Amino acid sequence: MLDINWRPDRNSPYRLNIQIVNFIKDKIATGEWPVGFKLPSQRTLSEIFCVNRSTVVSALEELAAEGLISGNAGGGTKVINNTWTLMSINHSHNWLPYISSGLHQTNQNIMQQINQAEFQPDIIRMGSCEPSPELIPNKMIQGVLKKLSKSMASLGYEEPKGNIHLRREVCTYLKTIGIEADPSSVLITSGVLQALQLISLGLLHTNSVVYVEKPSYLYSLRTFQSFGMQPSGIKLDEEGIEIKELVDRHRRRKGAMLFTIPTFQNPTGSVMSLERRKTLVDACDRERLPIIEDDVYRELWFDEQPPQPIKAFDNNGLVLYIGGISKNLSPGLRIGWIVGSEKVIERLADIKMQTDYGTSSLSQNVTTELFSSGLYYQHNDIMRKNVKIRRDVALEALKKYFTGIGTWNIPRGGYFIWLKLNEGISMYQLFTKALSRKILVHPGDLYEFHSDQYLRISYSYASLNEIDYGIKTLSELVAEQIF
Ligand SMILES: Cc1ncc(COP(=O)(O)O)c(C=O)c1O
Repeated sequence: MLDINWRPDRNSPYRLNIQIVNFIKDKIATGEWPVGFKLPSQRTLSEIFCVNRSTVVSALEELAAEGLISGNAGGGTKVINNTWTLMSINHSHNWLPYISSGLHQTNQNIMQQINQAEFQPDIIRMGSCEPSPELIPNKMIQGVLKKLSKSMASLGYEEPKGNIHLRREVCTYLKTIGIEADPSSVLITSGVLQALQLISLGLLHTNSVVYVEKPSYLYSLRTFQSFGMQPSGIKLDEEGIEIKELVDRHRRRKGAMLFTIPTFQNPTGSVMSLERRKTLVDACDRERLPIIEDDVYRELWFDEQPPQPIKAFDNNGLVLYIGGISKNLSPGLRIGWIVGSEKVIERLADIKMQTDYGTSSLSQNVTTELFSSGLYYQHNDIMRKNVKIRRDVALEALKKYFTGIGTWNIPRGGYFIWLKLNEGISMYQLFTKALSRKILVHPGDLYEFHSDQYLRISYSYASLNEIDYGIKTLSELVAEQIF
């Protein structure tokens, strides 16, 4: 006899048979009554639920009509299906037409797979662009939270451009990297990604051309494309984006912008030379082509500081400079910033207010304290050392396992090695095979369409042993496809 203590509620607005239907569906959905499970007889169920037999019959008929159970005279009634779509049939509204008509495009299928796989417990993340949990300074943040719990002002909405204390701290920080900015020309955002969204919403229009490095992180996003903007890839050489190609392509096209990641670029890890930065800002000034400079990896340098940001050479307010703390401190705090001419910042702040009414006040307070106490700067030193150790392990593993199969750069900072395979292979096949061996890797075609020869290897998340094992396994899978 089944041990069921539940009874339908006679005071509920739902009819008794519907309550029984839902109760049985729950049992099936949770797997407690798996496919093949034999239900008690109608008489027993009516005794358990304290209802008339006709009520049970009506509930069972409903479940049978939905394809979840089936009964026959001899063998009793059994569960025959437990798929979610059947379980929800007739009860949930069909949202599909709405879902497919929303303005924002869905993520690329492979990106959705990556986002889900990242949270499988035993997965080795060789593609992530986030710091591993042990790189995030939990103790430090806990200490800050403890201190703030005694002194923090109430957590109300913040000013449209963000907490003024944080904006002042950001300006102090910016000075250390060569950017002179006033707090009035700084907007605090919820991560760098939101800064990009605000720019696309507020400053670009459908059909705007956005020049991007080829390859670029931007290709893996749907932010710009969703609003009808056209990415236009410009080649990179050893010093950075090729200016002649950019200028030839641009021809003062109205409404266009350049998006660049000059420092420890995602996905190539490359750094634009100082000379190229200066020439680029001059050329874009002549061409009246605004620049979006994404500098989120800047603080992760290993042996020497990278050249100053392009923004440091911008005398005419041409550059929208974006930075944040997601890569060097904590992505979960969701703190980023945009620096630009005041008019632009006001426009973006206005959109931000209409979008989310400001970035988390708690996160802004924590980040202000991290800056003002000096902990931010101290932590960067520790972070650089630890990320460099990871880079070295990855380079060692590549030497051991990929010699003869591919070539790679030696990053001077950031998270990425752009691995070039000697021959093109099916990237999707590699991705799925690696996933079946619990290795998550980002194929290069996420960052450069139709590319079949590159993998982005990230050493920021996996443990040192995992980095070695992950690269070894990848080399075996690649070799299987090439040879
Ligand atoms: C170049 C670049 N910009 C922005 C982001 C996103 O940063 P955030 O987490 O601050 O939104 C990433 C990380 O994935 C990135 O690689």
